[in-house]
Amino acid sequence: MTADSKTIPATLIAGDGIGPEIVESVIEILDAVDAPFAWDRQLAGMAGVDAVNDPLPKQTIESIRRTGLALKGPLTTPVGGGFKSINVTLRQEFGLFANVRPTKTIVPGGKFEDIDLVIFRENLEGYYAAMEHYIPVGEDPKGIALSSGFTSRAECRRIVKYAFEYAVQNNRKTVTIVHKANILKLLTGLFLEEGRKVAEEYKGRVEFNERIVDACAMQLVINPWQFDVIVTTNLFGDILSDLTAGLVGGLGMAPGANIGEKAAVFEAVHGSAPDIAGKGIANPLALLLAAVMMLRHVGRNDMADRIDSAIAKVITSGAVRTRDLGGTASTKDLTAALKQALV
Ligand code: NAI
Repeated sequence: MTADSKTIPATLIAGDGIGPEIVESVIEILDAVDAPFAWDRQLAGMAGVDAVNDPLPKQTIESIRRTGLALKGPLTTPVGGGFKSINVTLRQEFGLFANVRPTKTIVPGGKFEDIDLVIFRENLEGYYAAMEHYIPVGEDPKGIALSSGFTSRAECRRIVKYAFEYAVQNNRKTVTIVHKANILKLLTGLFLEEGRKVAEEYKGRVEFNERIVDACAMQLVINPWQFDVIVTTNLFGDILSDLTAGLVGGLGMAPGANIGEKAAVFEAVHGSAPDIAGKGIANPLALLLAAVMMLRHVGRNDMADRIDSAIAKVITSGAVRTRDLGGTASTKDLTAALKQALV
């Protein structure tokens, strides 16, 4: 490894909870394949609050603006009150409109073999706009909680088109639009209406299906193989991608990318896992798979393939697995095994 090979500036955010442990593991493996990223380490989340009293320091935003590329550990978000989710803020700040969450079977012998699907989640609108307030009822100032979501025609079009383009470029056969237009007739009806128009443009090249979200959730458990590419709104995509992670071994196996016109942020689907933080037992694979997506994003499929093969080899052999996958290995044990399996 030489300093000269680090030609692509990228921001690195270790994050909270298990973040620093899994980021350290992933960097070791990226270094082992001589990945081209020149890291600019920055703070966010509780780590930012503790160091500079800011969950999203200006320096971190400026770094991502400069590099247009980031690998991010999970960030703790206070539940109920406290500061707004930094993940949501980052997506809005950089217009990261597409949340891409692939689900692929790597661990053999589970309930579901040969799963290979990708969820595209609209990342900027819907209920995640989180325009919320209380309406007092009698003496109770919080008698009613009100939340409004929104969808724009332009954003519906952009995310659905992105999913169809991905399907074309990656030889995927079917795109399924998931909605709840029978109840949320405007909020998700617009998504479906615009989605159907986009589907029409790809007629003959990519097949198109539509599913109501509740039926889709059931179908994903009964027969997940019928799905190929799913595109859906923000909240539904968040929930369904956790569901699909559960089909292939849990959150420790689920990577994600947040893609915009000018920046891309790669992360695990899971959170900071405070229940196991600091114990050295977290599964680094979700973040490693996100780093693999990042390598493909910058055109280094060669390095991505090497890491993918090492993961498959180690996990298939079954000797070294973390606890969430039924093993006893520590984060460091798995990291060492992965490095050894690199060819
Ligand atoms: P979580 O994903 O952190 O944990 C859920 C369960 O999965 C826990 O039992 C945890 O131990 C386990 N788990 C998660 N990742 C794992 C890994 N890599 N290896 C082994 N086990 C793993 O969800 P939770 O507890 O609801 O959220 C904790 C915090 O993370 C919250 O503050 C939440 O807001 C934040 N969060 C942040 C995200 C992000 O930064 N992208 C995404 C989701 C949650």
